[in-house]
Amino acid sequence: MTFQLKQLPTTSKPKTYEHLCAQLSSLFEGERDFIANAANFSSLLYHSLPDINWVGFYLLKNNELVLGPFHGQPACVRIAMGKGVCGSAAELRQTVVVENVHEFPGHIACDSASNSEIVVPLIREGQLIGVLDLDSPSLSRFNDEDAEGLNNLARILLERSDNSSEFKL
Ligand code: SME
Repeated sequence: MTFQLKQLPTTSKPKTYEHLCAQLSSLFEGERDFIANAANFSSLLYHSLPDINWVGFYLLKNNELVLGPFHGQPACVRIAMGKGVCGSAAELRQTVVVENVHEFPGHIACDSASNSEIVVPLIREGQLIGVLDLDSPSLSRFNDEDAEGLNNLARILLERSDNSSEFKL
């Protein structure tokens, strides 16, 4: 399989996310494994969105967020519910946009280059599955347009994937 990363229009964030939705749909063609799709999701966004230094997932296991597929620097592995930006978004079940992570009480610093962050909770059939986390080296990188676009992309991932817990070590 070859997947060509397409040049995204830089006209507006909504347009960019519209194009990413289309690319994601074609990337998921014929594949429903959640881990595989989440890994390709991270890569696509990391390479397509400007001004991003980390994209990835924390997945809920035994009431704790555990590092999942991602692109960027190695990151902290476990985050308790309610802790940091990820734990807050998971507990609130709401998208959290942080303009300046250094002013967010309890922010967990994984990459010292990060200055702003957005975390989107993944909810399927009323159940919290985990969170999608993006970091940027710029202050105030994310706004409501990113929140809407990333929620749409996360919805596609959940709709187009099944649990891959049959995987055994
Ligand atoms: N900053 C996050 C931790 C995860 S990393 O950014 C990859 C937080 O405060 O929850």
